[in-house]
Amino acid sequence: MSEEQPEDLVVEIGEGRSYPIRFVESIADKLSRLVVQYMDEQKGLVVVTDMNLAVAQALLFDDILKEVPTFTVSPGESSKNLLRLGEIWDFLANIRLDRKGAVIAIGGGVIGDLAGFASASFLRGTSYFQVPTTLLAMVDSSIGGKTGINLEAGKNLVGAFFHPEEVLIDTTLLKTLPDAEFSAGMAEVIKYGLLGDAELFSRLEDLDRLHPEHPELASIIRRCCSIKAAVVSEDEQETATAGGRALLNLGHTFGHAIENVSGYGIYLHGEAVSIGMVAAARMSCLKGWIPEVDVGRIVRLLKRYDLPVCLRQPLDRMELLEAMRQDKKVRRGVVHFVAMRQLGDSFTTSEVEEHVLLESLEIIGAE
Ligand code: GLY
Repeated sequence: MSEEQPEDLVVEIGEGRSYPIRFVESIADKLSRLVVQYMDEQKGLVVVTDMNLAVAQALLFDDILKEVPTFTVSPGESSKNLLRLGEIWDFLANIRLDRKGAVIAIGGGVIGDLAGFASASFLRGTSYFQVPTTLLAMVDSSIGGKTGINLEAGKNLVGAFFHPEEVLIDTTLLKTLPDAEFSAGMAEVIKYGLLGDAELFSRLEDLDRLHPEHPELASIIRRCCSIKAAVVSEDEQETATAGGRALLNLGHTFGHAIENVSGYGIYLHGEAVSIGMVAAARMSCLKGWIPEVDVGRIVRLLKRYDLPVCLRQPLDRMELLEAMRQDKKVRRGVVHFVAMRQLGDSFTTSEVEEHVLLESLEIIGAE
């Protein structure tokens, strides 16, 4: 291992269930060893990936994984549906994957969620490995065992908590990631600073703009993963009555409403979260919890990554409010927001008046 390679982490969820997040120097080498191991032990392996990746990482698929049955889906959120899930189940059944075998999910959040849920449900549970290829998946969706698909009625409405065997992170995979996707991942990185790590937030402010070749990127990713792992260890299934895993939704209640009302695909998820974090910061400021100057710091950092800090086209405030009330995180009809007490210290609250929400939405460009 080279000196710069970050140390592995563990997601502690109890004996026999905890699993590592490994920072690997070469995913090709790691997968090659995994393929040999599974072959030697006569256990089946299957890859689920998307078409963009199959092209961008052609060497990996045509060489290391050429003997591994591979199911390839169209890229994008629209693949995270029941039809595709059914096709993956059939694929696993046709190649006779048994419960000793494993699925390797190679891709971003969509692939991780879809392949993870296929693994959770096929034969009542087969092992899977997460190989995240986007920044967002590396710091968030590949860790913590949330798997699932979307329904017409909403995103992620069907799924399971089902943890991978290992999360395998090779940050060099980010070199082929489009700039906008990298920036969208940075929204989640900034989120970690805001929700619980003031030092990370300041470090991000002090660093030049991060990019896939930046020498500090891997250690920043590791820091985010360690926050995510700690939060998941504390509140694995998001059952805490206050704080806990729900804190990871900072900016997401607003963000999901923006995605929902504008129509999915208009904003990348991280872009909607970026605007959502500004709304959450405005809301926290209007409530008197954080000063205006902190809102300015958040906006400046998001802008450094060309992330939107207000709506590109105005949306209707009442529609956004209604969408927030429909969010699946609503408990007994009460919307729980993640607010900021200060930069690096967030909390969950339902104590936000409608006029405060409407004003926060107006400031981000809703009408
Ligand atoms: N992405 C939020 C969570 O894993 O809980």
